[in-house]
Amino acid sequence: MKLVDNKATLSFSNGAPSVDLPVYAGNIGPDVIDIRKLYAQTGMFTYDPGFLSTASCQSAITYIDGDKGELLYRGYPIEQLATNCDYLDTCYLLLNGNLPNEGERKDFHKLVINHTMVHEQMQSFLKGFRRDAHPMAVLTGLVGAMSAFYHDSTDINNPEHRQIAAIRLIAKMPTLVAMAYKYGIGQPFVYPRNDLSYAGNFLRMMFANPCEDYVVNPVIERAVDRIFTLHADHEQNASTSTVRLCGSSGTNPFAAIAAGVACLWGPAHGGANEACLNMLEEIQASGGVSKVGEFMEKVKDKNSGVKLMGFGHRVYKNYDPRAKLMQETCNEVLAELGLENDPLFKLAKELEKIALEDDYFVQRKLYPNVDFYSGIVQRAIGIPVNLFTGIFALARTVGWIAQLNEMISDPEYKIGRPRQLFTGSVKRDVPPLAQR
Ligand code: CMC
Repeated sequence: MKLVDNKATLSFSNGAPSVDLPVYAGNIGPDVIDIRKLYAQTGMFTYDPGFLSTASCQSAITYIDGDKGELLYRGYPIEQLATNCDYLDTCYLLLNGNLPNEGERKDFHKLVINHTMVHEQMQSFLKGFRRDAHPMAVLTGLVGAMSAFYHDSTDINNPEHRQIAAIRLIAKMPTLVAMAYKYGIGQPFVYPRNDLSYAGNFLRMMFANPCEDYVVNPVIERAVDRIFTLHADHEQNASTSTVRLCGSSGTNPFAAIAAGVACLWGPAHGGANEACLNMLEEIQASGGVSKVGEFMEKVKDKNSGVKLMGFGHRVYKNYDPRAKLMQETCNEVLAELGLENDPLFKLAKELEKIALEDDYFVQRKLYPNVDFYSGIVQRAIGIPVNLFTGIFALARTVGWIAQLNEMISDPEYKIGRPRQLFTGSVKRDVPPLAQR
């Protein structure tokens, strides 16, 4: 960390001695005030629920400029990666810090593609779930269970073990997501095929069956690859922070990733794509575009509890760059499938147009996020709504494992242990039962 020739001074109005706090600069983005010694020096904690002003770690992986609407993976703009590279190149970049050259690319693709099969016993484990279980519940279980199935790579202090766990996770997630889907619809599992691309293999495992093979459509394959690339990492979001916190105890890496899957499920995070499509379907069912105005009034009414899902972001106060790329993919997929007049797409465009002009959204800097269009693309491809967040989890796995591995190799890493402002009862005696 670079110490800046500047320090913060914290003073107190009650006359307690002031303290000087060091300031560090990142390569880009805001400087940070180092408060690690604050408690020792003052006996006080800082208070920041939701981490609105707190950097929980140093990281060299992903950078977001929320005001500019800029997203960089290892310095490369997401637009360039989405256009010039594929998902596995992006995985290599996130894990290793640089884009692969031709030889490294070939080797890495081969390494991942050759490890897509899961332990046969995983099927028996999966069969313990109810058929109607939510795929995110199933995935949380399956990813956690990997710690039992792949127990030879669990020493997180061994860099080779961390690398093996990373490859296993990236390679096997598509197989697990497709298995969760097939199980839910009562179809036989489709084994991976190593002669297909990462995205193509996933599509085939999802949509082939023993009676009819699946021919991969290159437009859909590209769209799926782009969905994966756009979701690959997003710095210290809720699920990534969960993985870091969980992994900070030294737990098994598969268990830490399972914690990330669980966190991602929520509608304020990865579950927003499912919630967004459900919202569009509800508006469509109640009258479609003609009901947009009425719906927007509800969104703006704080008492209604209704939110425009797929809008707003903690970090982006401008258009999410991923949403722009996703809209482009949406146009391509709908054109390829002859669905240009898809009513939900029209409805989404109308909602976006109104929201971008409305004072409520303008003042709060609320713009579409990646989830606003990703659901429409996935639905057009034939992916069921309740699997959308599972696709997000598949794609984000590389980000989680890259961030986890970065944390473990950081010499400043410690178990995560937040403090609290206690507002409960002060010490008291347990009264006898008759007096309670
Ligand atoms: N619809 C209506 N109002 C909103 C929305 C929305 N989607 N998002 C934020 N607001 C309002 C919010 O009510 C608040 O208003 P006020 O200042 O009057 O109280 C203001 O905008 C600021 O919002 P916030 O909730 O304080 O912001 P946050 O940073 O805590 O929350 C968020 C960010 C993403 C949870 C929130 O914008 C949201 O719930 N959006 C809908 C869910 C969604 O699309 N989530 C996906 C995020 S992108 C995918 C990912 O990375 O996981």
